[in-house]
Amino acid sequence: MSPFVFVFLSSISLLGLADACPCPCEKAELCHQIRDKRDFEVFVFDVGGKTWKSYNWSVVTTVATFGKYDAELMCHAHSKGARVVLKGDVPLAYIVDQNNRTDWITEKVNLAKCQFMDGINIDIEQAVDEGSPEYYALTDLVKETTEAFHREIPGSQVSFDVAWSPQCIDKRCYDYVTIAESCDLLFVMSYDEQSQILGDCIAMANAPLNQTINAYDQYLNLKIAPQKLVMGVPWYGYDYPCLNLSQDGICSIAKVPFRGAPCSDAAGKQKTYRWIMKQVVSSLSGRLWDDKQKAPYFNYWDPEGKFHQVRYDDPESICLKTEFVKSKGLRGVGMWNGNILDYSDDPVARQQSALMWNALFGC
Ligand SMILES: *[C@@H]1O[C@H](CO)[C@@H](O)[C@H](O)[C@H]1NC(C)=O
Ligand SMILES: *[C@@H]1O[C@H](CO)[C@@H](O)[C@H](O)[C@H]1NC(C)=O
Ligand SMILES: *[C@@H]1O[C@H](CO)[C@@H](O)[C@H](O)[C@H]1NC(C)=O
Ligand SMILES: *[C@@H]1O[C@H](CO)[C@@H](O)[C@H](O)[C@H]1NC(C)=O
Repeated sequence: MSPFVFVFLSSISLLGLADACPCPCEKAELCHQIRDKRDFEVFVFDVGGKTWKSYNWSVVTTVATFGKYDAELMCHAHSKGARVVLKGDVPLAYIVDQNNRTDWITEKVNLAKCQFMDGINIDIEQAVDEGSPEYYALTDLVKETTEAFHREIPGSQVSFDVAWSPQCIDKRCYDYVTIAESCDLLFVMSYDEQSQILGDCIAMANAPLNQTINAYDQYLNLKIAPQKLVMGVPWYGYDYPCLNLSQDGICSIAKVPFRGAPCSDAAGKQKTYRWIMKQVVSSLSGRLWDDKQKAPYFNYWDPEGKFHQVRYDDPESICLKTEFVKSKGLRGVGMWNGNILDYSDDPVARQQSALMWNALFGC
């Protein structure tokens, strides 16, 4: 660094930020927060590593960073006009207290400024009873966080992650209507829809089409604006060991209770699309299509000779869901998570990954 540049930078530091938080990007303007509102959101969760380099950056609008802070990712996203937002999570019992809540918000705003981030994604997946102190504290947290971010970082975005349906899924009885009004958008996690199985204990789709779509109607019936809803689709599936596999392909699963339900997808293991695309090739059945749930699945034998059924989403099942985003004019689409496709140089993998990105925009 030339002495001249050094003097110049130290004079900026008098203004505050540059001292503790120098801009890590090659060009200083890449540290400027993104201000323009995008009509259509493509909201990507990033869990770390460097596969973000293979994202389709011509479509990404927001990256929620759930991995370690990666300055290179921030600079790159800004160069593409995309936002990068923090993850926000806190035990609700802590933030019932107003001072604690304000401290938490102040800490997050300062962190966002220091890391040149464009907002925050609040990911509280805790059980809450309607009318409890935590119920009101959560609503206040969202409102106060949004006010603080919008005031301190003009143009910033505050989003909140909600379950696939507003009907107390997994005992998350939140004030969805006020929360939606209090932030920029809700990311609807349209997956893990078998977390509470009340009927037969069998393997089912992660996000059946009807169940998914009907739940958006529930959100819309609460008078939550379609422009507040981003549809999150799964880029992963579940691998269920079958207790037995019936002649017509029904896989009975172990009873693993979850938040009041006798059975759950917790009987299976979450698997990435990358793993699934390898496994299906050597499977017993090859790719099958569940025409009721409108999603693919396959069966395989593990080395110990046990049957497994894998329930997942692929471009065909995803595009049927994202068609609904277009027809209802929702705010956008997104996925959990961006990293789990096969981004290697293998031409088959390349094609599969490109089709997954394209499926975000319908069939
Ligand atoms: C405030 O938050 C801290 C953790 O940051 C927690 O240990 C403490 O119990 C909270 N205080 C109250 C009154 O909730
Ligand atoms: C499959 O396993 C379930 C659970 O153990 C049992 O209830 C059911 O009768 C079994 N079905 C067959 C066809 O063996
Ligand atoms: C899906 O929903 C539509 C209309 O809501 C209904 O006609 C259809 O029977 C449902 N399909 C299944 C498999 O539940
Ligand atoms: C990225 O997305 C755009 C818009 O959907 C598409 O035209 C383009 O082919 C995609 N790029 C790659 C590498 O798949």
